[in-house]
Order: sequence, then structure tokens, then C-alpha cells
Amino acid sequence: MKVFFKTYGCQMNINDTEIMSGILLENGFDIVASLQEADVVILNTCVVRQKSQDKYHSELGQLLKFKKQGRLKIIGIAGCGSNLEAEKLLELGADFVIGSRSINEISNILNRAIHGEKIVFLTDTICSVNSDLPRLRSSKHHAWITIIHGCNRFCTYCVVPYTRGREKSRPMDDILREVKKLIQDGVKEITFLGQNVDAYGKDLKDGTNLARLIEQASEFENIKRIWFLTSYPTDITDELIETIAKNPKAAKSFHIPVQSGSNRILKLMNRRYTKEQYLDLVKKIRDKIKDVSISSDIIVGFPTETLEDHNETVEFVKNIEFERLNLAVYSPRDGTVASKYFKDDVDRKEKTRRLNELLELQKQINKRLNEKYLNQCVEVIVEGNTKDGLYYGRDIRNKIVIFSGQNLSLGDAVFVKISRTTAGPLYGEMQKKCGL
Ligand code: SAH
Ligand code: SF4
Ligand code: F3S
Repeated sequence: MKVFFKTYGCQMNINDTEIMSGILLENGFDIVASLQEADVVILNTCVVRQKSQDKYHSELGQLLKFKKQGRLKIIGIAGCGSNLEAEKLLELGADFVIGSRSINEISNILNRAIHGEKIVFLTDTICSVNSDLPRLRSSKHHAWITIIHGCNRFCTYCVVPYTRGREKSRPMDDILREVKKLIQDGVKEITFLGQNVDAYGKDLKDGTNLARLIEQASEFENIKRIWFLTSYPTDITDELIETIAKNPKAAKSFHIPVQSGSNRILKLMNRRYTKEQYLDLVKKIRDKIKDVSISSDIIVGFPTETLEDHNETVEFVKNIEFERLNLAVYSPRDGTVASKYFKDDVDRKEKTRRLNELLELQKQINKRLNEKYLNQCVEVIVEGNTKDGLYYGRDIRNKIVIFSGQNLSLGDAVFVKISRTTAGPLYGEMQKKCGL
């Protein structure tokens, strides 16, 4: 039987799709690249915003039509939507719904669905991912590795703690076993993943932490770069900053969502820091790590956000100069504290205006920051080819670089001299050595 996955949401869902694909492949299913070829379609869903939820609902509607026409046999739902609205999805017509902590059961569940059962399978406490599970990775040189599941933070707007459950770290030796296997497959870059990746190890209570994991993983000779996503501001320790500063394989890139530049809004969001504390953290990181890249997320139009609050965020963004910023308009999520107790009272047009103002500001900042790269030489790991015969990849600060070169393979590390900059990618030519 041919299975097609459609994946929404964050890298954790991407990683889960890779694991489910690996398991199905090992159990005799084929994984196909398009819906048209498939007998089974599994939607790996995201519910972080209403828009994300609407997207897979409309896809499900489409799939149900295909199924009626006999073009499709089974429709499955995985991911965060499963955890949030399993029964409803079954009622709508899905054949099975599997939770994100139960993905190791995908083959059994699919087999039962093929035999006509309608199934909701959610496990709450077990975190099923370990290095023994097979994976069908989409990249040959880079791998996502989920190291901590769930979230304990309960920001008032966010649905993730309700879908992914509480924080649960994987044992470090199991993660290192996974890295070892990856090396045998030729992987050179890895990204450690978690909703709060820097909370890694806290629940294990044996001294395990992200800094130590990065140190250990960097000892594998074939691993060239180590990334980590996403950091919660107050979980970044001095030890982690020191480790990133001194370990040449650790990417000089922190993604630290701030969400707002107004202390009043931060408090309503239950983010447990002030903008001053966040600024101090950024200063500390920048003092210790030369040219470090710091990126962030901001929510625009949170309930009661006044023009003053918004202007504080604008000033904050100007002051910090993030290397990258993900902006989102506040979206009320059922079951969260914010949707229960705070009215979504910022006018829709005004939300869009605020979003656009920040987008424009960030574009200017990107442009200015990127100009500093002109004539510099950076080390890039090759990730692929562009349509017009160039190569692209990223440097250790997560800058996308497009460049001319010859006979390169994915995963090769090369030097590139930057000859043109934009608000987006940098452009350049490959060099034999930097400084020549
Ligand atoms: N754990 C990370 C982020 C996880 S969700 C952190 O705490 O920072 C990814 C991003 O989605 C968040 O940073 C936030 O900016 C956005 N987001 C989450 N819930 C949202 C909501 N209800 N409305 C709009 N954006 C939201
Ligand atoms: Fe959501 Fe907050 Fe947890 Fe991030 S820290 S996943 S925003 S509850
Ligand atoms: Fe979406 Fe779940 Fe990730 S809600 S952002 S897929 S953790």
C-alpha cells in the first residue's frame, strides 16, 4: 500500500513524519511523494493558530471527496490536531487519529484501519521516540533530532502544552546513539529540537543538560555543525552560552522568542521575564559570542495591546536588531487561558497595520545587518542547488548563502566570499581559502 504524508507546522512534526515514514517502510508500506499515487493519506497536523487548523480541515474535506470517489482508501490524522480534537476528526470521516506521543504505533494503527476499524489512539504519558525507531529522512546531510517533548510553560495564548503534554527529555545516551547511526548514513549537520530545547534534561534530574549534550555530540568527528531550536529565554544558562562560545561546531545562532516588548503584555502572556531581563540576556550572549545571530518570534495584537504597548515592541525591535523575526497575529485558541479570560479586542485592521509595520522595520534591519557581510568570507555547508545552477547553504550564523561553485556535493563545507547582499540571502563566489 502506498502512503503519502502531508506535514504541517513545526520541525517537530517534520521529524515525526520522518519517523512514521521509517516505521511504515520497514513494515512493508511504500512512501510516495504525491497524493495522486497514494492509497493512504496521513495529515500530520498543526493547531498553533486558527489558520493552521483551518488548513488541514479544508484538506481533510478534499480528501473525503477523493475517498468517496474511490481514489483513496484510508485517511489518517496525526500531530497536534489529533491531541486536540480526536473525536471530532473521526466524526468528520477520518479513519484513524493518532497522537504525537504514540507515533511508534503507526504501523499497527494503520493495519487496523485497513481492516475496517475506526480508531482514536492517544497516549498521554509515554514518550515513544528513541534511537531504535527507523527514520526516513528527507535530507542526507542534515537531521532533526527531537530531544525533549512537550512544554511546561503554559503561556496564556498557547495550545502546545495541551497538545504535546508535559516536558519529557530523552536520555542522553539514546540521543548519542542516534547521532552515531546518523554518521553512518553520512549526516554532517544535526539540529536538536524541543519546544523549549534549553529545558533539556531538567526533568531527568541527573545533571544532564543541553550544553553537555552539545559537547558530547561535537566529539563525533564527522559531525560538522550542531544547531538547537527553540530556546526559552530564562532557560538559557551561562554554561550553555560558554559552550556555544567555545565549541567550534556549535552554530552561533539562538532562536529566542520574546513575543512582546511590553512588560504589561509579557505578564498577561505568562512569559516569565521582563523586557529588561531579555535585553540583559541578549547583551550577555553578544558579549560572549562574537557576531552571534539572535532571532525571535513576536505575537502582534494580543488582547488589550494598546498602541503604546505596540510602540514599545517597535522600539524594542529597533534596539535589539534581531537577525530574523517571525511575526504572527494573535489567534485565540480554545482551552487556553487567554481565550477564556481575555477578549480578542484589537481591531483586525489595526492588527494587520501593526504586523506590517514590524515586517517593514525588520526588513530594513535585515538589509542593514546583511551589508556587514559584504566582502567577507564565510564557511558554508552545501544544502542544494538553485534553479539557475548555483548552490545554496548556510553559514554558522544561519545566513542563507547562494553562490557559484563546481562539483560540490550536499554536506560539503566550502568558503564563499560575499559579493552582494539583500534583505534575504547573501550572494557570493566559492573560494579555495578565506583571505585569498
Ligand atoms: N516554545 C516556543 C514557541 C512555540 S510556538 C516559545 O515559547 O517561544 C511557535 C510560535 O508560535 C510562538 O513563538 C508564537 O510566536 C506563535 N504562537 C503560539 N501561539 C500563538 C497564538 N495563539 N497566536 C499567534 N501566535 C502564536
Ligand atoms: Fe507555547 Fe509558551 Fe510552551 Fe512556547 S513556552 S510552547 S509559547 S506554552
Ligand atoms: Fe504546531 Fe504542534 Fe508544532 S501545534 S507548531 S505542530 S508543536
